[in-house]
Amino acid sequence: MTTSSFNSVSPDRQQETSQLPIGVFDSGVGGLTVLRAMLQRMPGEDYLYLGDTARLPYGSKSRETIVRYSLQTTTRLVELGIKVLVIACNTATAAALPALRETFPNIPIIGVVEPGAQAACQASPSGRIAVIATPSTINGGAYQNAILRRRPQASVRSLACPLFVPLAEEGWFDGPIVESIAKRYLSPLFSDDNPPDCLVLGCTHYPMLASAIRTVIGPDPVMVDSAATTAEAVQSSLDSKNMAHPQQQDRTGVIRFFTTDDKGKFARTGSLFLGMTIPEDNVQLVDL
Ligand code: DGL
Repeated sequence: MTTSSFNSVSPDRQQETSQLPIGVFDSGVGGLTVLRAMLQRMPGEDYLYLGDTARLPYGSKSRETIVRYSLQTTTRLVELGIKVLVIACNTATAAALPALRETFPNIPIIGVVEPGAQAACQASPSGRIAVIATPSTINGGAYQNAILRRRPQASVRSLACPLFVPLAEEGWFDGPIVESIAKRYLSPLFSDDNPPDCLVLGCTHYPMLASAIRTVIGPDPVMVDSAATTAEAVQSSLDSKNMAHPQQQDRTGVIRFFTTDDKGKFARTGSLFLGMTIPEDNVQLVDL
């Protein structure tokens, strides 16, 4: 249903819909950095999180494959019952947002690229912005376009960092190996006389590597990701559609987790990304 048709449904139906969970998906545990920001902002909402760990990484696959996977994960979440979908994956947002909106016109769908671009444009004084993301996100140009649409004079450098996702999924967030990989990727981006003053972490896995990245780029550039601005966008979308959970001020929401591979590994690494323990018995294995 569209916004206007939602507003025209009966009050009972609207009340029922507003009590449904927020659906969130990523190729793995990276999207938990976005869920974490949503929990801080909207702790009274319920959430369903699906990490398609069996097929990770999405970022090195073709657009067609990413669209197909994204349609499958979304279908599952919609079958389970959600009131809004958050694509907590830059790669899936960049490749599949239009296809998802076309296929599920009745569910509001929010991606992470526009909120990430907005965060970058707000944070960069000079407009010299570097974006790092998966190969698919960088090659598709979604970030570059979203930044330039907001700030046409910006100068955007972009770089794919494909090794960052497996490092983060492995729980290798810092230390000499991670730092030397970060150095190899990032030094060339920051080595001239006019380096960027803002680095966009354009993949939801990358915030976990922030301290290793910081040792390479130094203290000055602002580092931004899309987690906080996405959480803000989700909240204002729910408010504008009158879809926030009616008792959200008086309750703590429930989170259910789904993965397409090893539940134990999802719970272990996911706990680090979410910043709170995910009990393995709260993780369900699903086959898409
Ligand atoms: N977390 C995903 C993103 O934000 C990428 C991970 C992957 O390559 O599957 O792009």
